[in-house]
Amino acid sequence: MDKIPTHVAIIMDGNGRWAGERGLARSHGHRQGVKRAEEIINAASRMGVKVLTLFAFSTENWSRPKREVGMLMRLLYNFLAGRAEKLQNRNIRFRMIGRKENLPRYLSDKLENFQAKTAGNTGMTVVLAFNYGGRQEIMDAAGKYALDVLKNGAVSSGLDEERFGGYLYTSGIPDPDLLIRTSGEMRLSNFMLWQLSYCELYFTKTFWPDFGAKEFEKALKSYALRQRRFGSL
Ligand code: IPE
Ligand code: IPE
Ligand code: MG
Repeated sequence: MDKIPTHVAIIMDGNGRWAGERGLARSHGHRQGVKRAEEIINAASRMGVKVLTLFAFSTENWSRPKREVGMLMRLLYNFLAGRAEKLQNRNIRFRMIGRKENLPRYLSDKLENFQAKTAGNTGMTVVLAFNYGGRQEIMDAAGKYALDVLKNGAVSSGLDEERFGGYLYTSGIPDPDLLIRTSGEMRLSNFMLWQLSYCELYFTKTFWPDFGAKEFEKALKSYALRQRRFGSL
């Protein structure tokens, strides 16, 4: 394949419905979803993708039943605890985007720890969007910028897109080239509102727990056929 996207972002959706269709509890869908995430990390790395962003928990997902929220937190913890070694061996750099503040301590420590551990790796970057909201990110950036102006005398007239991007959680990470959303929903659900401004969108009806390497390749093939114009001719 000639045109491999540098940065692929995925809204991993449909775990609950996948489980529901099989008469299983939603938690089964989430567990299966983690397995798929691992498979897609491998596939993306193999295919030469440089950055893979996975949306795993939104700031709106707190409104789900407490039990499900707790389960999702523990699932991430177990993933990091159990798979750290493997990702490390694959030279993968890990980074979290989102608000760490309201996460349980055991999880935010683990995230911090894992990020530090893999910081020196030079392979693909896996960005995990957890407790992430696009509007919150932009507001946090505006707050950081305001503070910078007040405290350090950063000049407001010099603000351009690149500089503002430096205040976002994704500072230093290029914008996604391809966004994939599974499960048939065609909305952004507050995901990377700033960064997706010129991203190519790919929607599939497949539920996330069924989204394997083959489907991922299909999405990349669709991307390779797109003509990106960025407003030009
Ligand atoms: C995506 O699957 C995972 C998270 C949002 C945490 P869902 O849990 O949203 O599954 P559906 O959309 O209800 O099927
Ligand atoms: C988006 O999925 C968030 C994640 C995949 C983590 P949701 O299932 O929460 O989105 P809505 O509620 O259908 O828009
Ligand atoms: Mg959903």
